[in-house]
Order: sequence, then structure tokens, then C-alpha cells
Amino acid sequence: MLTKSVVPQSLATPGLIEFLPESRTFFLQGPSSTYALGIHKLGHVMHLHWGGKIAAEDIGYLNPGSRRAFCPTPCTEDYDFSPDIVPSEYPVFGRGDFRSPALEVLQSNGSRCIDLPYVSHEIIAGKPALPGLPSTYVESDSEAATLILHLADPLTGLEVDLLYTVYAQWDVITRSTRITNPGHAVAAVTLARALSVSVDFLTSDYDLLQLSGAWARERHIERTPLRSGVQSVDARRGVSSHNQNPFIALLTPGADEDQGEVRGFSLVYSGNFLAQADVDNYGSTRVSLGINPFEFSWELTPGSVFQTPEAVMVYSAAGLGDMSNTYHELYRTRLCRGKFRDDTRSILVNNWEATYFKFDAERIEALAVSASKVGIELLVLDDGWFGKRNQDDSSLGDWMVDLKKLPKGLPDLVQRVNAQGLQFGLWFEPEMISPDSDLYRQHPDWCLHVPERSRTVARNQLVLDFSRQDVVDYILASMSAILRSAPITYVKWDMNRSLTEVGSALLPAGRQRETSHRFVLNLYRLMEALVTEFPHVLFEGCSGGGGRFDPGILYYMPQIWTSDNTDAVCRLKIQYGTSLVYPLSSMGSHVSACPNHQVHRTTPMEFRGHVAMAGNLGYELDLGELPEEEARIVAQQVAFYKRTRGLIQTGRFYRLINPFEGSGNAAWMIVSQDKSLAIVFYYRVLAEPNIPFIRLRLKGLDLGRKYVVHTSAGSGKERDSSGHDIDDHAHKLPDVVRSSSVLQELGLMVVPEHGDFRSQVWELEVVP
Ligand code: DGJ
Repeated sequence: MLTKSVVPQSLATPGLIEFLPESRTFFLQGPSSTYALGIHKLGHVMHLHWGGKIAAEDIGYLNPGSRRAFCPTPCTEDYDFSPDIVPSEYPVFGRGDFRSPALEVLQSNGSRCIDLPYVSHEIIAGKPALPGLPSTYVESDSEAATLILHLADPLTGLEVDLLYTVYAQWDVITRSTRITNPGHAVAAVTLARALSVSVDFLTSDYDLLQLSGAWARERHIERTPLRSGVQSVDARRGVSSHNQNPFIALLTPGADEDQGEVRGFSLVYSGNFLAQADVDNYGSTRVSLGINPFEFSWELTPGSVFQTPEAVMVYSAAGLGDMSNTYHELYRTRLCRGKFRDDTRSILVNNWEATYFKFDAERIEALAVSASKVGIELLVLDDGWFGKRNQDDSSLGDWMVDLKKLPKGLPDLVQRVNAQGLQFGLWFEPEMISPDSDLYRQHPDWCLHVPERSRTVARNQLVLDFSRQDVVDYILASMSAILRSAPITYVKWDMNRSLTEVGSALLPAGRQRETSHRFVLNLYRLMEALVTEFPHVLFEGCSGGGGRFDPGILYYMPQIWTSDNTDAVCRLKIQYGTSLVYPLSSMGSHVSACPNHQVHRTTPMEFRGHVAMAGNLGYELDLGELPEEEARIVAQQVAFYKRTRGLIQTGRFYRLINPFEGSGNAAWMIVSQDKSLAIVFYYRVLAEPNIPFIRLRLKGLDLGRKYVVHTSAGSGKERDSSGHDIDDHAHKLPDVVRSSSVLQELGLMVVPEHGDFRSQVWELEVVP
């Protein structure tokens, strides 16, 4: 529902949206970019430009009309006009455009044809919220302006509103679509496809970048030149998935971190999505993004409205680094919400890799004691505290404390942890049900299933049918009861399997394909209810690590467990790839024990700490078992992170060395918003003989100023991978003062050190 009143264009932030009535052209003006669209004389909404900033003037001459073979024209008024050629804003199928449609509507007569001519438009100040869906927002109407184009099908009366928001501060366009069946011309129709965005480009001279991977290998960067035909990434597992992130970018060939045009497309959605580029026979490219039509349909009854998720499009003429910075700032400050958006995040210890299911109150209290000694602030009790869950084969859904493990209940344990000066956090997996649970015995129809077929288990569990209100209400009540029962300040929200037999006992046969999207909508409803009642609780998303690391989750939970893989070498790629879109403040990253539990590699404690510090630092190991020397390093890291986390969590992030290239080494840095402070991390994975010194060219410093550069205390003492001290020649650079220009043009000197898995950290402070 629109919450903002319609205001004359002049009252919306001046200049953000310009409309030329004579040529019926709209210009959405970002700080250095323009998105332009126009209304053809036949009513078709044409895409005109998305790229560098242009003046608002008649650009209708760019209409690429001109008749071509096999390109149909829908009417006799303009034989040159073919929907197959014209760049469109929201294309449909069946009326002459053979490229991928954004909308497909099945009508009761079996037809899928539809026309969507322009009817009218509104320009409003600010940005309306999307009912029931996460979206970016404004804090004041002056931050953005929104164009709403009203289109309607003359035959069915179906109304389609295209919503575009342009921000004053960033080169961002958000788009979504609202489809209404007013019910005066047709009865119900079925949406077979309702994407959020479609953008046409007149060339295919781009590279496509995607973030792909698997469990424990999330968001690896892949980049390939576009070719003819459809190339796509998608999710079909019911969650945005480890395998593909709901993000793609088009880059001009040769564009890199620091230069070249980049256009990013990110979807604020946590379920099945489709992101694709369709290159046609004229070499033009259509990018589409939205809910995956593969497992979707929606019956639009008379009087009802369907709102698509929001797509967030970022333009940069200065490479990937600039694009990422825009996403980081927007998502950190205008997607994340609540107290923890701006609060520094606590350093936590999580008992999962320390104890797995084998714990009792004493063991957890002991972990709190050792955590407190090194300065950790929050203890998270992971899986296994409820029902009778001693391994992963029971009790999901029975959110009642296991009194065998915790005989005095949760309040007692929380009090004991608090007594050590630590806050207390708790793990849930709200969307799941174990076949061996009281809940399943009482409600065997509460899981996703289809009639007469067996129910596929994964990790011994089934998925609750979250498309049902009653199921979600039950989970809300049980989680709320636990959260009310003790002073819990953190929740880890896990989700450990993909959806199968996606059907609901409550939906009629013809509406079964609504289940996945209803699941996501109700998931959002549940999250909204919980963050509203428990604003003092920091919710951290998780899905077997980073299987649901998407902007939809960030609206409710400002941080997400980045990956179950805590190996520091693997984490370099995972965190680097994740940083293309997501800010450091969104990444949970922990130091774990060695040999590492996922890949069995042993790396020095310093290296593990330095990798985990590029995010929200945590520990996931038995601190009580640490040798004294390692405990000393942990205490040093904790103190260092407490001093620097304000900068790390809110500063501007720059990638310096790409671990996907060369020998897998990495470097990145963070600069405070006022440029007075910076912190630089360098990671060398494997030792190599006889290599030249590396000059690490810095970025983002205050030009014309000088900085004091100190090798950070967080670097610790040098030692080999088995923990033995090694000779100390030339490992620490003394504090020096250097000009920003020298640091950026010539760089910091990285002295190669002995041994594998070496890291170095520098702190920079501007000279007053
Ligand atoms: C998967 C998560 O990613 C882990 O961190 C841990 O919470 C386990 N689930 C617990 O079952």
C-alpha cells in the first residue's frame, strides 16, 4: 500500500525525477547516473538509457524502430514499431516480443496475451514500503523520489504499476512491480511469471559476473563474456541458496576494481529467484530479475494485488569497488534496520565447533569463564539445547529446554553466563520439523508434502509448511516464549535443508505452485513479528553457513553467518566474493580450532584472527583447551578488534589483492568515513622462494594528507604453522609517516616472511 501522498513533482526532491511532457520522457537522476524511459506514441513504455549522467532532453530519436525481417508489428499505425526490437521496461509475451518476458498472465480463456500501454504516472517524494516484503527505505522523503507508472491491459483491465525509486546520495535505482486485478473485466487470472525488473541494453559487449558456489564454498566470483542466447543463474531450493546468490552484474570488457562501467542487479528476496541475461539476434541484451517462474504461479482473484520483490540496481563508471561501496552503504544504512544497524557488534564465542551436541550447563559455563578471560562479550549456545537432541535426528519443532542437559533450565544458564560478564545468545532452526518430534507426532500434516508420496528427508529433517498461518503462529508463540523466559540478546536463525515436495495441505490443487512464495512471505512475517517484539535481540541469519545470504534476510537480521567453512584460507575467497555486494558488518566470521574441521588445514592463530576480523569477529572453539600462548594471542586479537571494530564495521571497504587470481593471496583495507583512520590486511597463503617485495598500493586515503603507519599489535609474534617461533628478521616495520599519495602510488612495502599462511596488518592514522 502506498503510504506517501502524491505530491506535485516540484515538491519531490528537486531534480531527482524530471519529466518532459512533450516527449513523454522520464529522467531519474542519480549523483552521476541517469535512468531514462519514455512513452511511445502507441503507449509502449520504452527503456532509453541507464548509465552515465545525461541532460533531460528529447532523446526519442534513439528509438531503434526500422522494420526488420520476422519482427512483427502489432498495429497498422506504425509499421516501423516492433516490440521485438524496441527496448522495453516491462515486456510481455505473445504480442511480438520474442525475448524473455517479465510478465505472463494466464486468463480463463486460455490466452496468455496481454498489452500494457501507459495510462498515467505519479512522482512522489520518498519511497513507499512494499507490503509484506523487505525493501530499502528512506529516513526522510528528501532522500529519494519515486516514479510510479500506471499501465493497464484494455481487454482484461489488469493494472500493472512499475515502481522506480532514485536515491539522491547513491547511483541506485530500485524497481518493483505491483499487479492488480480490479475485477471489473475478468475473474481470476493466474500469474505464471511476474518478475521484478527487466532492462534492455542495445549491445551485448559485456561480461556477466555471478556469485556461485556450494555449501562451504559460497559466493565465488565467476565472470564470462556474454554470448548469444539465455545465460542465467537461479535458485530452486526454496532459499536463495549456497549455489547462486541473487545477484548478477554486467561489466564492460576490461572493467576491474577501479575502472570501467559496472551495472549490478541484486534482488531483495530469500526464496527461488531467477537472474538472467538474454542476448538476441541483434546483439541486444535483456537482463531480467525476480521470483523464479520455475516453481511459481499466483492466482490473482478480483480485487487482489500481487507485489513483486524489490530489485536494487547500482551503476558505477568506476569499477567494481565503487559498485560494492554503493551496495555496502545502501544495505548497511537503508536496508538493515533496528538498534543493531548502528550498534557495534559484540565479539562472540559459539559452542558449536567446541562441543557440538555434547554439552551440559557446566561445560557451557566453563566456556563462558574462558571466554570472559580473553575479553569476549557474548556466548552463543548452538544446536542441541532443546527436546532430546543429542544428534541431528530429532526434536526440531520442540522448542522446549532439554532438562537432562540443562536441569535448572535456561534462565539459570543465562544467569551463570551473565555472571561471567557475557551476554547470552541462542540457536533456533524455526522452519524445520524432525519426524522424531512431539510436534510431528501431533501434526504430521504440518510439513511440506504432496499427497500420496513419501517425504524426502535431508539431515533427518522435514520442512515445516510455512505457507500456513497456523504453523507460523505456533512457531512464533514457541520462540517468543523462550525469548521472554530469559535475558537473551542474540539469536542464531539456522535453516539446514532445501525444500522438497513443495506442496501445502491447505492449498487447492491449482494453487500448489504458490507454496514457495507463500513460504517466504510468512517467513518474513515471522521475522518481522520477532524483531518487533524483541528489538534488543540481535538476530543473525544462517543456512548451513551462507545458504541464505541475501538482502531479504538483511532487512530483519543485520548479520549472517557467512559460511560453515571456517578455514581461514577458504574464507579469503568466500569473504572477498561476499564483499562484492554485502558490507563487512553483515558477515559473521569466526576463528576456529586447527586442524580446521572442514578442510583439516592448520593455520596460525594470527592468520585466522586477521581473516575473521574482516567482518563481525567471533570464536568457535574450546577456549579452555587453548595453549597459554594461543590464549594470549586471542586476548590480543579481542582487544585489537574492540579498538578497531567501529572502523571495520562502518568504514569504506577497498579490495586490494584478489584471491581468485594468481597464487590466492589477498589484501583489503578499510578507511573511516572521515578518512582519518585506516586499517590494512594482507594475507599470503603459501610461501614462495626468491620473490620480489610486494608494494601494496592503498586506496581511498585523504589526498594531500600524511598518515602515521604502524604495524599493528594484532599481528602478533611470527611463528611457523606448528606454532614455533621463527627468527624475527625484518618482520615488523617501525612506525613511519608517509603521504597518502606515496601510499597510494607506491604503496606499503610488504616484506616476504618465512612460512605459509602469513598475514600482516597496518593501522594508519592521519597526521593532524
Ligand atoms: C549449521 C550451521 O551453519 C552451524 O553453524 C551450526 O549451527 C549447525 N547448523 C548446527 O546444527
